[in-house]
Amino acid sequence: MRVAWRASLEMGPLAEEFNVGVVGAGYVGLVTGACLAYVGHRVTCVDKDEGRVAELKEGRMPIYEPGLEDLVVQNSRRGRLSFSTDIAGTVHEADVLFVAVDTPQGDDGSADLSSVAAVARSIGRALAERPGAGRAQRERPLVVVNKSTVPVGSGDYVSMLIQEGASESSSGNGAVDYRVVSSPEFLREGSAVYDSFFPNRIVLGADKRDALDTMRALYEPFIEQTFPTQVDPRPKVAVPFVTTDLASAEMIKYAANAFLATKISFINEIATICELVGADVSSVAHGIGLDDRIGSRFLSAGIGWGGSCFPKDVAALRSIAREYDHEPVLLDASVAVNERQRKRVVSKLQRDLHTLKGKRVALLGLAFKPNTDDLREAPSLEIARALDQRGARAVGYDPVAGKKAAGLLPNLRVVFDPYEALSGAHAAVVVTEWEEIRTLDLQRIAALMESPKLLVDGRNAYDPRAVRDSGLLYRGFGRE
Ligand SMILES: NC(=O)c1ccc[n+]([C@@H]2O[C@H](COP(=O)([O-])OP(=O)(O)OC[C@H]3O[C@@H](n4cnc5c(N)ncnc54)[C@H](O)[C@@H]3O)[C@@H](O)[C@H]2O)c1
Repeated sequence: MRVAWRASLEMGPLAEEFNVGVVGAGYVGLVTGACLAYVGHRVTCVDKDEGRVAELKEGRMPIYEPGLEDLVVQNSRRGRLSFSTDIAGTVHEADVLFVAVDTPQGDDGSADLSSVAAVARSIGRALAERPGAGRAQRERPLVVVNKSTVPVGSGDYVSMLIQEGASESSSGNGAVDYRVVSSPEFLREGSAVYDSFFPNRIVLGADKRDALDTMRALYEPFIEQTFPTQVDPRPKVAVPFVTTDLASAEMIKYAANAFLATKISFINEIATICELVGADVSSVAHGIGLDDRIGSRFLSAGIGWGGSCFPKDVAALRSIAREYDHEPVLLDASVAVNERQRKRVVSKLQRDLHTLKGKRVALLGLAFKPNTDDLREAPSLEIARALDQRGARAVGYDPVAGKKAAGLLPNLRVVFDPYEALSGAHAAVVVTEWEEIRTLDLQRIAALMESPKLLVDGRNAYDPRAVRDSGLLYRGFGRE
């Protein structure tokens, strides 16, 4: 039985209750804030986007994440979760302040820290202006927790900017008391709420012991798994709480994402070789995955990795390595394989359609993975661009991300019914393996499509025989 929680059930009283601020109400910040409120802390989520804050105050979600709406609405009603655009006011009230703003890829591949820097300066100014700043006003200094994914050394950079912000302040004497902690986030979009309640580990980096003590107390319900709603009959096992220095915590996040991306690229390399020698990568992945040194997850061959994290985090790590004159050859290869997978989609289409000019191609799934509406670095968009360059007409469908995708690319038509996308299409590409897309009616698809009725299964989501039996031409990855 899987562990479950229900937002409507009350937690018991907390041993220690904190005032928490979360700056950045996106996928990470909003989920983190809502989960901390659920376990009993008083949380304010701050965002510079006024529209987003207004929506959240009305109980409307700016992002799609399973289970999130319930959690936000219930905890707002309980008075434990609120939303604001006022970072200074939030800093004044907070014991712990999370920073969960975006760190996109800059033009040179490195992480763009401008949002983090702006927030750090604001924290400094607000701290200096906090009533009683500079005096031992509070029992404990404010703990600033960085949840954004940032390069090694960013903890010190944030600290420096807080100091700068404090000294820029017109009021106060510039003396501020705070700690900087790195708490990298490992949640996965699509199961972010679940992952926040039941993480594999909590990693914390700090250079002061007292900050780690505060964080341990704050995270206590997550570490000890004291949720009233657990239905898993197994004995509760405490979540590993990894404490380390700032630089190592920052590096753990990049290393984790680079490893996972490379694991996918590895199986994609094997898939290509499987095609050449006539092996089936699904069997190969199963056979190697049973070795517990390898593990079965992240061994699905196909279009490759995308999304808001892997591409930018691998790029940032490569950029860090190069700054130190180190050629990250393995990471370079991982990216090269991934780029090649996108091209292989197009060549698989060309192989059976010959020229793509004028051909209609249905893209099934647009979000970068199932159960999210996130389109950042989504393979669908890259494939749509490549099709456009070759004169094909792309028609996309996604169960959730369709609305966001509509209008993103001038030559990608978005429809809201999968069979409408497939109607009259010469080919279809399974881009995102949503449950709804894995279980489409193959006979109906065959009746709607135009010859050669090609299905390029970019996620190896279908049984090739079932697809062929329904009259479609099947092309998977590593399993021809
Ligand atoms: N999305 C994920 O799955 C995931 C997982 C792990 C780590 N991360 C990391 O977490 C960080 C946040 O990612 P996300 O996906 O939640 O981003 P996001 O874009 O969904 O949200 C960021 C939010 O920060 C707000 N913001 C930006 N600058 C601000 C400022 N100066 N003041 C107040 N608000 C500000 C934005 O308006 C936005 O709402 C990134 O560093 C990312 O790499 C993301």
